[in-house]
Amino acid sequence: MCGIVGYIGTKKACPILLVGLSRLEYRGYDSAGISTIEKDGLSLVKDKGRVKVLESNPEIEKLSGTIGIAHTRWATHGKPSKENAHPHQDNSKNFSVVHNGIIENYNELRNMLEQNGYHFLSQTDTEVIPNLIHYYYTKNQNNTVNGFLQAVRDCCIALKGSFAIEVISKLFSENMIVVRKDSPLVIGTSATEKYISSDIPAILSYTRDFYFLNDLEFALLQNDKATFYDQNLNEIDKKTSSIEWSATASEKNGYEDFMLKEIYEQPTAIRETIGARVSLDSKCNFEELNIQKDYLSSINKIYIIACGTAMHAGLVGKNVIEKLCRIPVEVDIASEFRYRSPIVNEKTLSIFISQSGETADTIAALKLAKKCGSRTIAITNVIGSSITRESNYSLYTHAGPEIAVASTKAYTSQVILLNMLAVYFAELLETSDLKTINTIKQEILDLPKKIEETFKCKDQIQDFAKKIYQEKDVFFLGRGVDEAVAKEASLKLKEISYIHSESYPAGELKHGSIALIENGITVVSILMDKTLMEKSISNIQEVISRGAKTLIVTSHPCNENMFDEIIKVPDTISYLSPIISIIPLQLLAYYISKEKGLDVDKPRNLAKSVTVE
Ligand code: M6R
Repeated sequence: MCGIVGYIGTKKACPILLVGLSRLEYRGYDSAGISTIEKDGLSLVKDKGRVKVLESNPEIEKLSGTIGIAHTRWATHGKPSKENAHPHQDNSKNFSVVHNGIIENYNELRNMLEQNGYHFLSQTDTEVIPNLIHYYYTKNQNNTVNGFLQAVRDCCIALKGSFAIEVISKLFSENMIVVRKDSPLVIGTSATEKYISSDIPAILSYTRDFYFLNDLEFALLQNDKATFYDQNLNEIDKKTSSIEWSATASEKNGYEDFMLKEIYEQPTAIRETIGARVSLDSKCNFEELNIQKDYLSSINKIYIIACGTAMHAGLVGKNVIEKLCRIPVEVDIASEFRYRSPIVNEKTLSIFISQSGETADTIAALKLAKKCGSRTIAITNVIGSSITRESNYSLYTHAGPEIAVASTKAYTSQVILLNMLAVYFAELLETSDLKTINTIKQEILDLPKKIEETFKCKDQIQDFAKKIYQEKDVFFLGRGVDEAVAKEASLKLKEISYIHSESYPAGELKHGSIALIENGITVVSILMDKTLMEKSISNIQEVISRGAKTLIVTSHPCNENMFDEIIKVPDTISYLSPIISIIPLQLLAYYISKEKGLDVDKPRNLAKSVTVE
């Protein structure tokens, strides 16, 4: 998805903007550009390709302005090209704009502007924005900075769709205006500098103090001042939030790739997410939820809604919540939920999971659930993200910034949080006995150490990856909660290794898909649930008989001669086992991708946070 960076301060803007753009590269993009306020007007340097191409443009060296905006574009309207790259300017070159999101009514606006004498150089939806600002600026006949603000505001009111926008103008050489609606944008602040970005990690090395904008709130920025307005341009008060992530958290710190670093960060991420919530001497602590027993007893369903890996965490959450709390839990994909006319009302509690907190489908689903009368809980990794502003309650995983497109530590942190939430609900409802609750708590507390032990399988996994990296298809099987892990492992493999892969409940294979099993095909099975192990082994036997090569992940004793490869992992209770069993499978996807020489952190066609529908 597109990335936005901005700087207004006392230093040269260009080097800061370029560093910011390179830190946003992981989001996925196809072109990049910069505009700064220079003595003789607005500069504009942009091109198709990587940030490095932009850096090597001779025009870049000439930029000395202290205010600038920059962008990495992920093409939606119009092919990747220099003309379509951002920033875009109005015809008079008074305003430069970068935009993240989609303007749904751009055709209509473009026609109106063309009828008023404007012409267009690109195929983008974005180019209407600077021209519309110019249109209102001229129409309103107010040449003060308030007139600039009014013109940006009038433009944004006319836009339909999603946007995060930065605007600079040669007419107002000390200001920048930023605004967002349904698209991410954060403002970092210090005494004499303001940093703007699509996400926190890109500017974390400069400041820990951030302003977060709600939809259609405007920020008028100077290097030493930030003034905020609502959509009617009434001034509003905004406080900064301090971000606890360390400045180096978004660096590779000696690891070859972010994904590998993030896999190895899981013990810490889990420890941080557990924090002070769990102890054997007291009830689970979720005081920020303010949910009472009466309310919890009155609901008849919990919905868990998310996309991709976060949805797989939701499947694990369903298992533990249903078993401990005896409340039916439905898990849905956000992009399906929002269009299926879901049965949601005040008797439904809806939980939305999103690492980034910016996934467009998940946020839209949340808005829908709220409209239907449901209470909403957001589980996210990013403080101040859009989802936290929309939900009744926000629960944070403390995984630290996740940069690799393939989610690893965010997933396991979501799973641990859901387990703790289930325990909290069960304690409120008194639906589980003390012994069960205490066993789970002890296992939660022991988990970081067990993850560390799990890493011992690394060499074995690396060797196995060498054997199978040229495969065309890989199957993943599991029963019960192990099936949720099979789904996640399969997604991990396909997204970073481009190997076709499918996951099935082990017992379902014989109802059709076993027809695909042929000599030499790799079948990976997760056998963590002891109660279902024998049943699953019978299913694996069926694929072995048809020539499959088998790898199993288990913590239980099994017949060593039956399988081609056995990955032994530490034992834990089945509620928590998905956190252990996914680790070797994250490593498997990683090492297969490395064997194939692929870009692990930035797989093709994918973006880290999917902020458009
Ligand atoms: O930021 P979110 O958790 O809302 O993102 C949801 C999915 O896009 C994400 O989990 C995606 O499936 C990952 N790339 C999987 O590794």
